[in-house]
Amino acid sequence: MALMAADMHAVDRVIQQRLSSDVALINQISHYIISAGGKRIRPMLVLLFSSALGFTGPERFEMAATVEFIHTATLLHDDVVDESALRRGRQTANALFGNAASVLVGDFVYSRAFQMMVSVNNLRVLDVLADATNVIAEGEVLQLMNMHDADLSVNDYLRVIRFKTAKLFEASARLGAVLAGAGTQVEESCAAYGRSLGTAFQLIDDLLDYEGATAQLGKNVGDDLREGKPTLPLLLAMERGTAAERELIRHAIEHGEIARLPEIVEIVRRTGAIHATRDAARAEADKARLALDVLPASAYREALLELAVRSVDRSS
Ligand code: IPE
Ligand code: IPE
Ligand code: MG
Ligand code: MG
Repeated sequence: MALMAADMHAVDRVIQQRLSSDVALINQISHYIISAGGKRIRPMLVLLFSSALGFTGPERFEMAATVEFIHTATLLHDDVVDESALRRGRQTANALFGNAASVLVGDFVYSRAFQMMVSVNNLRVLDVLADATNVIAEGEVLQLMNMHDADLSVNDYLRVIRFKTAKLFEASARLGAVLAGAGTQVEESCAAYGRSLGTAFQLIDDLLDYEGATAQLGKNVGDDLREGKPTLPLLLAMERGTAAERELIRHAIEHGEIARLPEIVEIVRRTGAIHATRDAARAEADKARLALDVLPASAYREALLELAVRSVDRSS
């Protein structure tokens, strides 16, 4: 954070400038969610990779803000789809302003991101981000199709998280390389880092929905179960538990039953499913770190190594 503080301020300025609209409700809702903060990991990836590869042009701030806008738009839409009430420690936009306003302002933020990506005049940038947004949408729809499916395979679960989450991490890292004019091999390694980090990040997100604390996360734990979302902690607990435990979890997934959450958390913990999910995340984070071998030694490379470690141990 210290290393990137000045650059992140520059990104914040771009975010504030680009968010403005003459339509009052757009300003109100977009500022509401943006000013709540968030970890800003995706813009950080753009900046760290472009800096690690020696690119210092102002386009990097525009690109960093763009990926944060895409992320913000997906959150506005995601909280409607998931019927979530808490985000970044505040009431969600849908809870406060309603679903219609959230979806429409999400569209505004999305399309603003597209205006911004056109402004840097680089067809590769458009290619990367058009592809990423399309795959994110596929991931969210795939996940919708998997809702309440207690027989979901681990591979199909992993496909969803690669699409809905890892793809934007991948695009953010790749953009750093594209801006720096890196060769194909370096660009692919940067992309691989983003893909693995994003996968680890979502595995931990899914784990924290059982093990985390609402106050620290700024979102309600237990939301995944309430929605009947078959995530890795549950899939592994079903594999490892007794027949009775398996039935309890299956029933909860199929009916989105939150009432027995404490019991299910206990099963997830005792069967080692929490542990195994964290191990899976750690394995992805290790893969991410290996991908950084292509970067020259620098403080930025160190920060990327550190980010991979922290993303596994995080509790918020
Ligand atoms: C939330 O992403 C959505 C997931 C992919 C799990 P973040 O955890 O990066 O959200 P903010 O931006 O920090 O709030
Ligand atoms: C986050 O997915 C949204 C996208 C990655 C598009 P989730 O629904 O799993 O994340 P949270 O828990 O609401 O942040
Ligand atoms: Mg959600
Ligand atoms: Mg969701």
